[in-house]
Amino acid sequence: MPKPTSVFVCQSCGTVHGKWAGRCDACGEWNTLVEEAKSQNAAPAHKRRKKGRGMEFVDLGGVSRDVPRLVTGIGELDRVTGGGLVSGSALLVGGDPGIGKSTLLLQTVGALAKQGKTVAYISGEESVGQVQRRARRLLVSDQPVSLASETSLGPILDGLMASKPDVVIIDSIQTLWTDQLGAAPGTVAQVRACAQELVRFAKKSGSCVILVGHVTKDGQIAGPRVVEHMVDAVLYFEGERAHQFRILRAHKNRFGPTDEIGVFEMRDTGLAEVLNPSALFLDGRGDASEGSAVFAGLEGSRPVLTEIQALVAPAAFGTPRRAVVGWDSGRLAMVLAVLESRCGLSFAGKDVYLNVAGGLRINEPAADLAVAAAIASSAFDISLPSDLVVFGEISLSGDVRPVSRSDARLKEAAKLGFERAIAAPRPKRDGRNDNGALPLISIRSLRDLVRRVEASVEQGPDSSASWAA
Ligand code: TYD
Ligand code: MG
Repeated sequence: MPKPTSVFVCQSCGTVHGKWAGRCDACGEWNTLVEEAKSQNAAPAHKRRKKGRGMEFVDLGGVSRDVPRLVTGIGELDRVTGGGLVSGSALLVGGDPGIGKSTLLLQTVGALAKQGKTVAYISGEESVGQVQRRARRLLVSDQPVSLASETSLGPILDGLMASKPDVVIIDSIQTLWTDQLGAAPGTVAQVRACAQELVRFAKKSGSCVILVGHVTKDGQIAGPRVVEHMVDAVLYFEGERAHQFRILRAHKNRFGPTDEIGVFEMRDTGLAEVLNPSALFLDGRGDASEGSAVFAGLEGSRPVLTEIQALVAPAAFGTPRRAVVGWDSGRLAMVLAVLESRCGLSFAGKDVYLNVAGGLRINEPAADLAVAAAIASSAFDISLPSDLVVFGEISLSGDVRPVSRSDARLKEAAKLGFERAIAAPRPKRDGRNDNGALPLISIRSLRDLVRRVEASVEQGPDSSASWAA
């Protein structure tokens, strides 16, 4: 029997299969197996290669140069990348269509060109005329940016090799194709091959290559996950289309932290940096209302205040609904279970809706207590004091746990005019007994919070008796 000359490679996880199947049994993805020619040179690698110089080892503590950074001058972008773009690196910027990726990157190249850096913007989606019109709108049209509209990888690489710009934008990776491959443009094989070539170009030339990638409905960058593995950093640009806020979040970063966010506001002259996100997220919050709590959160190194809204309403029929926007639904189920079993509230036959105002997505466990406060406030139909911020993690036993950097959270709340905070007592090892910027109502259990909300039903929402420290 002749030996098989091809193998089937999963385009999602890279597993090699001997025969075709509809579903990759390694990662469970459907329709991802693609036939590839098997290497004809069957001799094992160690027998084929000639003896040569072995590799050299160095000490961990050896002297190495700091990575050179290109500071864009767009503060929020520099913050997320960890201090500026890195020469010789590849970066992927993902996001829903229309969220503002092209706008952000055109502004970035404009800002870099202004500092005398050489930059190239290659658009595979828009014509040269369209990009020029956008540049005029963004007031960067007079900057020396090399612009091209091209989708074929060959001419792009030849052009880039000749000019070796400091920063190259490829908008978007899904539109590129290479004639080295039989696959049709837009397929995962094409995306992977083109990304690989561009990453190699970045390493070889010392340019910083920024790839734009579209995101599929389930929130992943369309194309194989391997693109995420190939690049040095992955940034997501997110936000609700109906809101003007846009958040740039690092998903992976070999040269910086991954928990920083950059906040932008979409205006008719492009994206503007938001230097004080708390003020923006709390903007439009009227007087205190039932079911609303202000959470003093932390996004990376920066404290950010957001309003958490809850609504507990009788379920019309059938199974009660739990709907969450901007938070984890599993975490909501946990907070509801703790409220039921430790604090005597009942949500049977009630719908619970939770919303983080402003389109922000919160990942911190510190939001537990603020969520519980918003739910209790809605359940008892009484508003929390309007000058109160809440933060703390809840354990399954109903205890409230301290969270990191409460000083920074309290200081930010004080700056925005809040006058008290509810949180766990500070850990002893802090070694300080001042309450920082704000008086802290310290509580040890969730039951304590619920008791205070319940008491304010009789004593009035702002009563000092129910909200005493
Ligand atoms: P765009 O950058 O084209 O999004 P993406 O590249 O992620 O697909 O952004 C398009 C949206 O941004 C579009 O709906 C209009 C809006 N926009 C503004 O509000 N102001 C502006 O100055 C620009 C250029 C775009
Ligand atoms: Mg675009």
